[in-house]
Amino acid sequence: MTSVLAVKNIVVKRGRRFRLQVDEFAVEPGEVVALIGPNGAGKSTLLTVLACLSLPDKGELFFLREKVSKGNALAVRRQLAVVFQEPLLLDSSVLENAALGLKLRGQKTGAKDRAYTWLQRFGVEHLATQNALTLSGGEAQRVSLARAFALEPKVLLLDEPFASIDVISRSTLIKEFKSVLSSTKTTAILVTHDFQEVLALASRVVILDQGRIRAQGTPRGIAAHEIWGGLAGAQIPPMPGS
Ligand SMILES: Nc1ncnc2c1ncn2[C@@H]1O[C@H](COP(=O)(O)OP(=O)(O)O)[C@@H](O)[C@H]1O
Ligand SMILES: [Mg+2]
Repeated sequence: MTSVLAVKNIVVKRGRRFRLQVDEFAVEPGEVVALIGPNGAGKSTLLTVLACLSLPDKGELFFLREKVSKGNALAVRRQLAVVFQEPLLLDSSVLENAALGLKLRGQKTGAKDRAYTWLQRFGVEHLATQNALTLSGGEAQRVSLARAFALEPKVLLLDEPFASIDVISRSTLIKEFKSVLSSTKTTAILVTHDFQEVLALASRVVILDQGRIRAQGTPRGIAAHEIWGGLAGAQIPPMPGS
């Protein structure tokens, strides 16, 4: 199978001390990969490289077998979408914000219709004419997700997208997000700290620590990993019949 995104022998330096070093990492079509690890492990750094927002200092990044370089990075980036922890919304209507990604990519006709459909899908179409800066955290993140899905990205990259949403809104949004991911079969890479999020969403988990991939596996497979401090394992419901 052709990977959608892959890195080979990359080194990424940040500041004077930090060095991310990943020899091999690939994402296959339809996978939802969770990137987990302690603060400062390099999760956001790796996500930034995978999102083509910064090129590695050494090594290679591939998008559908094509090597990403300065020359084609913008074209590749236009096939990806990124959602950050803090929704990046502008001082205009919710609908304008949801359509912004499409407009920036030159798709003017139908952008608002498509954006509106995605606002509906995330249950915030009633806010379409409201100024985006007046939204609650949860509403704002729904608009960011609508904007990202409206782009129909080949890969959706998310950096702790639910981390600043209150617990109750979060669990509802995670369920809706999961249903959208599976109905659209979107390939996704999700940075998270939350084990319930991993369990609900991920098909594969990659553990990063000090700039290196330390372990990989299924959510249940890595449940007992020391990274969860023995806590998450205890919260896992048993497999049926076990
Ligand atoms: N622009 C920067 N300048 C200096 N150090 C940085 C910069 N960006 C990240 N770092 C450092 O690189 C390390 C990895 O950061 P990051 O990828 O953001 O970690 P994570 O997302 O896993 O918390 C951290 O030690 C961080 O302080
Ligand atoms: Mg981070």
